[in-house]
Amino acid sequence: MRIPESKISEIAAAADIVQVVSGYIELKKAGKDYRGICPFHGDKDPSLYVSPQKGIFHCFGCAVGGSVFNFVMRIENVSFVDAAKLLAQRHGITLELERSGTARDDTRERLFKVLDLAQSYFVQSLNNASDAKEYLVNRGVSKEWIDFLGLGFAPDAWDGFESRLSMRGLSFRDAFIAGLLREKPNGGYYDYFRGRIMIPIRGLNGEIVAFGGRALGNTDPKYLNSPDSVIFKKKNLLFGLDSAKDAIKKSGFVILVEGYFDQISLRIRGIDNVVAPLGTSLTVEHARLLKRFTEKVLTIFDGDEAGLRAVKRSLPIFLTEGIEPECVILKDDKDPDGAINRIGTQGFQKIIQSSQPMINFFLDQLDAQYDFKGISGRNKALEECLPVLKRIADSSERDYLIERFSSRIRIKEEKVRRAMATNKFNQSSPSISSKQKPASTLFDFPADERNVVRGMLLQQGFIERIAETGILKEIENPSLSRLARAIVSFYNEKGTFDSRQFSLSLEDSEMAALVASWLQPKPEEDDLRPEVDGAIAIDQSLDRLRLKKLLRRKSYVQERLGKCSPGEEEYNDLARELLVIGRRLRR
Ligand code: UTP
Ligand code: MN
Repeated sequence: MRIPESKISEIAAAADIVQVVSGYIELKKAGKDYRGICPFHGDKDPSLYVSPQKGIFHCFGCAVGGSVFNFVMRIENVSFVDAAKLLAQRHGITLELERSGTARDDTRERLFKVLDLAQSYFVQSLNNASDAKEYLVNRGVSKEWIDFLGLGFAPDAWDGFESRLSMRGLSFRDAFIAGLLREKPNGGYYDYFRGRIMIPIRGLNGEIVAFGGRALGNTDPKYLNSPDSVIFKKKNLLFGLDSAKDAIKKSGFVILVEGYFDQISLRIRGIDNVVAPLGTSLTVEHARLLKRFTEKVLTIFDGDEAGLRAVKRSLPIFLTEGIEPECVILKDDKDPDGAINRIGTQGFQKIIQSSQPMINFFLDQLDAQYDFKGISGRNKALEECLPVLKRIADSSERDYLIERFSSRIRIKEEKVRRAMATNKFNQSSPSISSKQKPASTLFDFPADERNVVRGMLLQQGFIERIAETGILKEIENPSLSRLARAIVSFYNEKGTFDSRQFSLSLEDSEMAALVASWLQPKPEEDDLRPEVDGAIAIDQSLDRLRLKKLLRRKSYVQERLGKCSPGEEEYNDLARELLVIGRRLRR
């Protein structure tokens, strides 16, 4: 059951946060804000603040916080929907919970229509774009496959699709919601996808729900994806699943790759049970979705550091859903697309057969990284293991893994269990209720990642600037990365960002508290205040993250270069990339 967003705003407008909180505790005015004794911890000094301007509450003592809904959730110990119902009732607002949702169905229909028109426009345009056709053929996609996959091309024009829409009398607004048009700052719209190969993204039944657009050359960003909409949620969908599902059932397993083109290349070469995420990292929802078709997942990661980080991130997600993934790390190729084009289908099948449990790979990795002979090495390895162990759904499975982890890193099982009971690494675990534990405060997060994500909340225009840099993928802290994604998808859905509206949309207590503490930090701890040049600090943090990304890429490229010989195509590509990186680094 969901409450429509307009109702949420209506309730929030009626249920003044100061009034609501005053119903439970005594509030006193303190400057622009109100303060009182926090009911959520053994508070002595009043440390709970309520800001009517921002529409949030926040406790400096125990770090809880959020919107008026989050307050009621916490104090009445109810869900978001129930909190909203309760407030609606108290303020005489009638709630008709979405029963049939006819308005919504209409929107869906209209979006599908617009997407279909876009598809035929892109397909037609590809016919007239010889450079795009040539690009695809060079990548091993024949004319037949182009047609079969429905690949297209978005011409390099600002109003190509827009004029097609007007010819058909379809609504610009719908095309905007479907992510095909963007709004101009002064009104009007323009084409979102320009000069890109267009890859249709299909729902489970083969219906087109979105597009991925690949740049023809080295334009940044390489891929542009449709934003989320009512018919397209990246976290709930996997690229290629519509075409792969039968093959998955037949073969009994699914191959998970990282890129669109990996999925496409494997498919062209006869491997059909392949899917890829949609430019986001893997989510619990993805794992759950796969589980509907098979419990056997084989992931193929690229051999660079990003692959390692992907292992650390995805292993717990699979384990939470009771899936024990296998994995393959590519060493001689950049990605599965490169591998299968080099060694052919049979060679690739061999690689697949050489897969190993991801857990083993993870342990090997820890072994390579830390010295288990010393205490500090063991402790660091233990810290890395805890978030993984905590996610394992089944308790007998958990016991077995604790045994394996502890014997491998040579720490007593007992100590592992104790650490699991007390440590703070359960922060982003979906299986653990976030109600009891205090949320994190400003300084619990790495400064650069924190500043950049916080900049998205505080600074006008920063979200657009940053979403296109691709830097958000580099954010390693899981809570921050989750928050950043939430901000971007809120922005994409609305086409604009307002921190107050954003706060109201947060049903997750942990995230709500984090956002509240960031909107209203202790003044002396606020390292982004205008007086201390907050804007500059944000820019500097962004630069440092970019630099880090570049350096990481540089050392990867250098390593690869060392492995190929001059004259090879890859060598030339890498050398060119190294030049570009060098130039950027000097800037
Ligand atoms: P890759 O760069 O590995 O994609 O990024 P790829 O499919 O192998 O690309 P090419 O065409 O062979 O070079 C993996 C995935 O990350 C997302 C896309 O979903 C891509 O397939 N991505 C990547 C983006 O969304 N935006 C980007 O700018 C880059
Ligand atoms: Mn690729």
